[in-house]
Amino acid sequence: DWVMDSYVDEAVARIREQVGDEEVILGLSGGVDSSVAAALIHRAIGDQLTCVFVDHGLLRLDEGRMVMEMFAGRLHAKVVHVDASAQFLGHLAGVTDPEQKRKIIGREFVEVFKAEAAKLKAANASAKGAKWLAQGTIYPDVVESGGTKTKKAVTIKSHHNVGGLPEQLGLKLLEPLRELFKDEVRELGVALGLPHDMVYRHPFPGPGLGVRVLGEVKPEYVTLLQRADAIFIEELRAAVDPVSGKNWYELTSQAFTVFLPVKSVGVMGDGRTYDYVVALRAVQTSDFMTADWAELPYSLLKKVSGRIINEVRGINRVTYDVSSKPPATIEWE
Ligand code: XMP
Repeated sequence: DWVMDSYVDEAVARIREQVGDEEVILGLSGGVDSSVAAALIHRAIGDQLTCVFVDHGLLRLDEGRMVMEMFAGRLHAKVVHVDASAQFLGHLAGVTDPEQKRKIIGREFVEVFKAEAAKLKAANASAKGAKWLAQGTIYPDVVESGGTKTKKAVTIKSHHNVGGLPEQLGLKLLEPLRELFKDEVRELGVALGLPHDMVYRHPFPGPGLGVRVLGEVKPEYVTLLQRADAIFIEELRAAVDPVSGKNWYELTSQAFTVFLPVKSVGVMGDGRTYDYVVALRAVQTSDFMTADWAELPYSLLKKVSGRIINEVRGINRVTYDVSSKPPATIEWE
């Protein structure tokens, strides 16, 4: 696609001109926007970019390893992998209130990232510390924070807020995706050589599995959820709808598993089980403001529930969420 290729050339030239020979820091989350921003900036300035990947331990199964493999392994970008899972889980211990959990995760995230960025800024202070903070801000984010969208009267869920970070760190802001819509960001990602599956992934909330383990987030629950969710996603990708020729991951806007800290009785072989419950959630939506629960084929639900119960010891019941938004929200917390 030569339109995208020439866009890449232009964007690369612009970044080089803006940054000169100075160093840049970028927070990598594994999400589409920060990944594409990282790949683009890396294409432009190579080792002048250092990515900081804060792993809060609330990512999907294998996600941390995949992010490192992609950026450090394949793109040969400089990536600092901060494994902060113990710290996050420590702060979350005993906390059950969803808003409280969101605030803790958001605050810790900023703290950990700030500490790493400060180190990089100070690195070789005599020579060359970082001067820029790059962010994967896309056009809809710009519009939203400009207040052009109607503000909701009530905060339903507090989202991560990383505004003001560049000022606090004394860094200049680099936002190469500011003019792009989501679908353009995805095309750009493909043009930069990022894998299709990474670029077309469903959205994943900043607080991650922290809001998909209901109530207190225990390490054991996170592990069970990761394993169940990986099965659900794998089967969605494998199930092709004969009419459209698309698989059910593509046919849904967002799909995931929720861990319920509730035990129910089951039977396995000759024995009684008393284990946890998960809920499968899959929705179709164009704007995430309203959403319909997806009418997944029964055969698919059957396969997923059978696999989860057989393969994930500790879960003995699977339910399907048939609530639309509103009045339910997409996430359970
Ligand atoms: P709800 O649950 O409010 O979710 O219907 C709407 C969309 O927003 C995502 N979401 C978040 N994204 N940080 C994010 O970056 C968050 O704190 C957050 N909370 C919800 C949710 O996954 C869905 O796509």
